[in-house]
Amino acid sequence: MEKLALFGGTPVRATRLPYARQTIEADDAAAVQAALGGDWITQGPLVARFEQVLAARAGVAHAVAFSSGTAALHAACWAAGLGPGDEAITTPLTFAATASAVVYQGARPVFADIDTGTLNVAPDAVKRVATARTRALLPVDFAGLPCDYARLVALAREHGWVVIADAAHSFGGAAGARPVGALADMTTLSFHPAKLITTGEGGAVLTDRADFADRLRTMRHHGIRYADPARPWRHDIPEIGQNYRLTDFQSALGLSQLAKLDRFWERRDRLARRYRDRLSGSNFVELPTLPADRRHGWHLFVVLLRLDRLGADRDTIVEALRAENIGATVHYPLVYRHTAYRERFGYSAGLCPAAETVEARLVTLPLFPAMTEDDQDDVLRALDKVFAHYAR
Ligand SMILES: Cc1ncc(COP(=O)(O)O)c(C=O)c1O
Repeated sequence: MEKLALFGGTPVRATRLPYARQTIEADDAAAVQAALGGDWITQGPLVARFEQVLAARAGVAHAVAFSSGTAALHAACWAAGLGPGDEAITTPLTFAATASAVVYQGARPVFADIDTGTLNVAPDAVKRVATARTRALLPVDFAGLPCDYARLVALAREHGWVVIADAAHSFGGAAGARPVGALADMTTLSFHPAKLITTGEGGAVLTDRADFADRLRTMRHHGIRYADPARPWRHDIPEIGQNYRLTDFQSALGLSQLAKLDRFWERRDRLARRYRDRLSGSNFVELPTLPADRRHGWHLFVVLLRLDRLGADRDTIVEALRAENIGATVHYPLVYRHTAYRERFGYSAGLCPAAETVEARLVTLPLFPAMTEDDQDDVLRALDKVFAHYAR
């Protein structure tokens, strides 16, 4: 048996393969350079142009750009009118920003357990945690798989909740014929470099509702309302907002990247399917289910370890892979297990048992458009090597 790099053996790769990496090409850099020479480097015409193209891509009436995905989530909660005394239901298996956006508004995040197949929030679990105080539902398309919006939106309509879809992982995906962006009342995107397209930092909210779009634009710009556009100094702030604006040069990068979304997606899809082919017969991992009616966005490729067949826990397997220079990692520690959530809201272990069992088994493997088949073969070889060592 090959000696693991963790114990001084030779790693599978000489250099670290990251789990994610942006693809910035010469025309992306040229677009940013050109924008920097313009009259406006923020609040100029490229932000509006980026928003138009984003909205058209998702088939919705409005896109509002933000300085990050987190800002987009916060603005969506603000636009939905969430406030103290309100509850918003979300999944524990997400980046903390989803729930923190609810907290920024003084509302309480409530966690519904996940479906162990898709790893997305389970509609029945949402029903179980709903109360008279529930005002919003924030489903997250974990790893890139669009949630079961048909059921979630039906449930929300029954109770009058606003649905804010966190599509940081799934832009470019679809459910049936409907693209991500058109599946909820508001849909938030992130353009962080690890995501499907990037603006460095950046985000957006997509919506068909003119009233939400208007509130989102106001929130992004301090909450300022202009009574008379010809006299901008005579403005008022009826509700306090933020400076969450995206710059023009970031929008130039966004426009250039957006034109490549399909190409990037096709590459991710090809690599993801190759992973699934190679790993579907594995004794040591299980793969999340892939409902036939959804187009996965493939931000992340995750596997679930068969811990019953391995003499090591998840963290040991991740460390062993990293020693082999494979940038395996974990998405995510469950939100309610973070100290701030435990202390502020009193959440404790056992709240979402399915998510807890899944989280203990989850590993994210490298996936990004510029990754080659050879890189992917290194990942697969490292998995074989590590599993051979720890097999029971
Ligand atoms: C599911 C999810 N929501 C929200 C965010 C926040 O996005 P950003 O980093 O652009 O603020 C991220 C990523 O970081 C994410 O993965």
